[in-house]
Amino acid sequence: MSGAAVEIDGVSKTYDGRVRALRDVSLRLGPGDFAALTGPSGSGKSTLLNLIGSLDSPDAGTIVVDGQRVDRLAHPHRFRLEVIGFVFQFHHLLPMLTARENVEVPLIAAGLPSGERHERADELLGEVGLAARASHLPSQLSGGERQRVAVARALANRPRLLLADEPTGALDSVAGERILDLLGRLREAYGMTMVVVSYDPGIGERAERMLRLEDGRIVEDA
Ligand SMILES: Nc1ncnc2c1ncn2[C@@H]1O[C@H](COP(=O)(O)OP(=O)(O)OP(=O)(O)O)[C@@H](O)[C@H]1O
Ligand SMILES: [Mg+2]
Repeated sequence: MSGAAVEIDGVSKTYDGRVRALRDVSLRLGPGDFAALTGPSGSGKSTLLNLIGSLDSPDAGTIVVDGQRVDRLAHPHRFRLEVIGFVFQFHHLLPMLTARENVEVPLIAAGLPSGERHERADELLGEVGLAARASHLPSQLSGGERQRVAVARALANRPRLLLADEPTGALDSVAGERILDLLGRLREAYGMTMVVVSYDPGIGERAERMLRLEDGRIVEDA
């Protein structure tokens, strides 16, 4: 299995006809690339991730992931399930489900038998340091613990493209390093492509590319 390539050409996105969230953004990521995305609040980082992940569509320009135009997918849900792992800025865990069950959601959708689901969910919860919290509801977890459950859930289907919006934002430096290490290991093992919004100082040592957005434009690509 290898990572998915991402090709973005001349993408613009405006909200409510006024807010120009992205202006003519072009970007190419090869399979297995690891790009860190930074920039001030409101510069368009989450918007860009949402567009790449087919959760929203651009007003102009094209986005091709793994050879497919993401705004013209016949089965966007299936595409997301098979190709993409998403860690949302606001983790979006299901409040009625335990940590383990939240991690299992994409595995249920993928049709994995329950024994394997539990096993993989517990393995991932162990990796993010939450083995002892598997039966807790989100309301019984701290903010950082919820964020780690969201990371485990995004990785459950072994995505070929991981889109993570501040996956270490609510974590102390040790827990944050641990998540970045986990992502680095999985990337080496599976070759997944990663775009990670992060201000974590540790991201600079790990990412191959540092992208900076300002006012809807990529102003730095190092
Ligand atoms: N659904 C929406 N409707 C209207 N405006 C929006 C919507 N989503 C985002 N915006 C606006 O688009 C711009 C870019 O927002 P975006 O969420 O991409 O920023 P960001 O870089 O992720 O910021 P932060 O670091 O605060 O998360 C902002 O000015 C925001 O107010
Ligand atoms: Mg954001």
